Amino acid sequence: MKKYLAILAGVTVLAGGCGKPQEQKVAKPDDTEAAPAAKVYTIGMSQCNLGEPWRVQMNADVKAAADKHEDIKAVFKDAQNDTLKQRAHVEEFVSAGVDLIIISPKEAQPLTDPVAKAYRVGIPVIVLDRAVLGGEFTCFIGADNKKIGKAAGEWIKETLGGKGKVVELKGLMTSTPGQDRNSGFREGISGSEIEIIFEADMKWLEPNARKEMESALARYPEIDLVYAHNDPGAHGAYLAAQAAGRAKDLKFVGIDALPQEGIAYVAQNILDATFQYPTGGAEAIDVARKIFAGESVPKHIVLGSRLFTADNVEAGGEAIE
Ligand code: FRU
Repeated sequence: MKKYLAILAGVTVLAGGCGKPQEQKVAKPDDTEAAPAAKVYTIGMSQCNLGEPWRVQMNADVKAAADKHEDIKAVFKDAQNDTLKQRAHVEEFVSAGVDLIIISPKEAQPLTDPVAKAYRVGIPVIVLDRAVLGGEFTCFIGADNKKIGKAAGEWIKETLGGKGKVVELKGLMTSTPGQDRNSGFREGISGSEIEIIFEADMKWLEPNARKEMESALARYPEIDLVYAHNDPGAHGAYLAAQAAGRAKDLKFVGIDALPQEGIAYVAQNILDATFQYPTGGAEAIDVARKIFAGESVPKHIVLGSRLFTADNVEAGGEAIE
């Protein structure tokens, strides 16, 4: 680790030390003044885990966007779903002197302090997808989880004809998308006769969702629909229902809509609906470049979402209002 940090620090020092004309001159055969070496900006990307396809996609989106620019070098750290590790990663980026940090935090509260400290020493911080508390960061980029939850609630209300028994498998409730997908959903079904007969925090993870769903199936002979806060959760619930011989009796709704995951599940009739949750990876690099260019950037950038069902999946889904 020390060696890695030294290398990273070295890159930054080299990149920062662009005004060393005597070194440049040696390489030039003629006597003209050489242009100083171009600055390379180092971006530290702190990812909370890479155990889920959606996060692998986010890193790939960041990398693809960064690779388009010779003056940007992205360095990735994976906290393996460990909050303390992610705190340490942010601190390591600060001591290495990176030019900018992008973070997709596991949980809001415990990551607020390291992000604020980085911001206070003048390192721009872009927060992606899951938020931190307060306002000590440069820019937040993400879709509106409350709106997505509400749209899911309204779609479910309509699909079930205003009444039914629903299982809600929640994302990590110490993360903001879990909280917002829950409160938005409750708003979306309000005024209906939909009953939430079982709810559990599956912490975004498919194996947890499958286990919780096994308990729900054992307790309730009648379930109409599962609303899971992400597609791995909805898929885990589907597998549990399939093993119990009940998959055909239930509907499954998820969120994320990756082409190779949720959208494929909808096309295969495994899920009835999924709502797109864009990673924001490319947008983060756009914002980083503006910051490097000295331009001002908005504090919040809200990304859109799309609904995919059997009826519209071939046509590419439809935007949610
Ligand atoms: C991946 C994930 C996604 C979800 C997002 C919410 O870790 O669980 O499935 O949409 O995080 O932050």
